[in-house]
Amino acid sequence: MPLNIPQGHLTLRQPDDWHVHFRDGSLMKSVVSSTARVFRRAIVMPNLSPPITTVEAAIAYRERILSSVPKGISFSPLMTVYLTDNLSVNVLREGSQKAVFTAAKLYPANATTNSSMGVTKITNIYSIFETMEEIGLPLLVHGEVTDLDVDIYDREAVFIDKYLSPILERFPKLRVVLEHITTEQAVQFVQTASENLAATITPHHLHINRNAMFLGGLRSDFYCLPVAKRERHRIALRKAATSGKPCFFLGTDSAPHLRSSKESSCGCAGIFNAHYALESYAEVFEEENALDRLEGFASVHGAAFYGMPLNEDSINLKRVFQVIPERFALQEEAEKIDHLVPFHAGESLRWVVEPMV
Ligand code: NCD
Ligand code: ZN
Repeated sequence: MPLNIPQGHLTLRQPDDWHVHFRDGSLMKSVVSSTARVFRRAIVMPNLSPPITTVEAAIAYRERILSSVPKGISFSPLMTVYLTDNLSVNVLREGSQKAVFTAAKLYPANATTNSSMGVTKITNIYSIFETMEEIGLPLLVHGEVTDLDVDIYDREAVFIDKYLSPILERFPKLRVVLEHITTEQAVQFVQTASENLAATITPHHLHINRNAMFLGGLRSDFYCLPVAKRERHRIALRKAATSGKPCFFLGTDSAPHLRSSKESSCGCAGIFNAHYALESYAEVFEEENALDRLEGFASVHGAAFYGMPLNEDSINLKRVFQVIPERFALQEEAEKIDHLVPFHAGESLRWVVEPMV
């Protein structure tokens, strides 16, 4: 689709979000529309409590998500299954055969939110990778080691050397997405490794470096996993996202946590960016003089990697300033009100997505 920016308009093929957290229950009901109003499809992460480990659970979750999509909007949630130490390969076969699972997610145990049931020793699930390679089910990786003697800022780079590289060598036909990359090492590795490896990049890792978490005090709104790194890594990520290379594509990692859970003695990791994600990416692509590459990153490379058709509809972005609200109020239970703080809260962005309907 040709790029079109007459009078501050940008028209793109409708994008997809290849990494999102919708949660469940009332929180899910509040956040699904933020994604569905812009994205045609989204890979939904399975780290609920308890996690999605069966075909039935994935089908039921998909139904709950679909029932939260506002009327008149076409949106397809793409479901994933959560790998555990002893997940049966029959579950993977069945879920893949019935076209319920689009991919399987590897969380190293205790690496991030709701990952305590994750994999304790990666080599123990090599038989699972063998099956996934055979049936063509992509592996989505939270690429961080959890060893306490590894510095938190080095966890991604160490994971690549210690685990990802051997996995790709041993299973050359396995399709792998290194999710939410945060380092120049990941950029370098992904663009030089096999064509079966790709990476998602979040809007927040393109905007912030690790200083954001400590600006004038401790700011949990900017705490996510993997944590934002040094400035030179942010620059490498911006180059990668805007490079036009098909191995890099959009995955917001929008991860809503209620204000009360972010602001506690042990605040949760995750940034809620779904509501202004496309605007946030557009800002970066404009700053990098690469608006002509936004469509590839947002609407083409991911679908191509997953072997899915490109979306037919298009979406318009208008170049006008908008101020992002400080917070969204949620009515959790009667009388108890909680909030979600969106990424870019209180800032202004230069683009606005025009409603599709
Ligand atoms: C995610 C979440 O809250 O589910 N948190 C995050 O900081 N990104 C989990 C994840 O993707 O690591
Ligand atoms: Zn995530």
